[in-house]
Amino acid sequence: MQVKKAVFPVAGLGTRFLPATKASPKEMLPLIDKPLVHYVVEEAVAAGIEQILFVTGRGKRSIEDYFDIAFELEALLYDKGKDAELSQVREIAEMVKIFYVRQQQALGLGHAILCAREFVGEEPFAVLLGDDIIDAKRPCLAQLLDVHYKYQGTVLALEQVPMENISAYGCVKANRISDQIFEVIDMVEKPKREEAPSDLAIIGRYVLTPDIFPILESLEPGKGGEIQLTDAILTLLSEKAVYGCQFEGIRHDCGDKFGFLKATVDMALKRNEFNGRFRSFLRQRLEECDNDSNC
Ligand code: G1P
Repeated sequence: MQVKKAVFPVAGLGTRFLPATKASPKEMLPLIDKPLVHYVVEEAVAAGIEQILFVTGRGKRSIEDYFDIAFELEALLYDKGKDAELSQVREIAEMVKIFYVRQQQALGLGHAILCAREFVGEEPFAVLLGDDIIDAKRPCLAQLLDVHYKYQGTVLALEQVPMENISAYGCVKANRISDQIFEVIDMVEKPKREEAPSDLAIIGRYVLTPDIFPILESLEPGKGGEIQLTDAILTLLSEKAVYGCQFEGIRHDCGDKFGFLKATVDMALKRNEFNGRFRSFLRQRLEECDNDSNC
């Protein structure tokens, strides 16, 4: 069955990015000229997703406005003859069909996914977390879907991370089946470094099947007192095979200030419109900084 639906949990408070996220959603932080969430929606659409459910919460209304028709802005752009800008803002509202549900309590990622049960129904579906922006030739989700269509099961995005960072992630123990594909045999949410079964971290892309819902419904809170998606997938593992896809591409953790900064520089270097100028600016600043101890 083709995967046509995706769930975007966007109710998180973005505490790693305060104070910027005090009054506006982290998903709306702009990477150059588009909010983070726009990149993730683009990835989903490029992978064949036709319907997206945002699991949203208080203070996140600007996400809805962003993907809606901006009538006054469009009228203004039309009057001024700004056709390129007009079609740009109009295209955003027409990218994909979007639905919304509110996660009324911050009970964790697993709970957010449970809020998508009615939307998902009995189909396999994708989950995309907005902190992870993945720059890849073939969209990361499309790479996961290739694995899903081959093995028909749950698929997680995996990346090798330095051991000192592993406690920031869900971590898997897995057997390699092929170059990019693993069969997962154990998993633990945000383990201590000394307890981590490997350096393979779960990155924010998943293909799940509806049999995750009854598990989530009866799951006890785990790490941090939250209903953890990792724990639910671990339970599923006792009945069904779960796969990992070590995707090709560069992943930026944009929920983190340093990760966001790196993503901005990286993307700016790749943008044709200011590639040359930005490169020379960086070179010049680095030279100046090398000669200035206060820099
Ligand atoms: C969530 C998951 C974690 C995963 C991470 C990827 O954690 O619970 O397993 O490794 O996303 O970004 P969060 O970063 O939302 O705390």
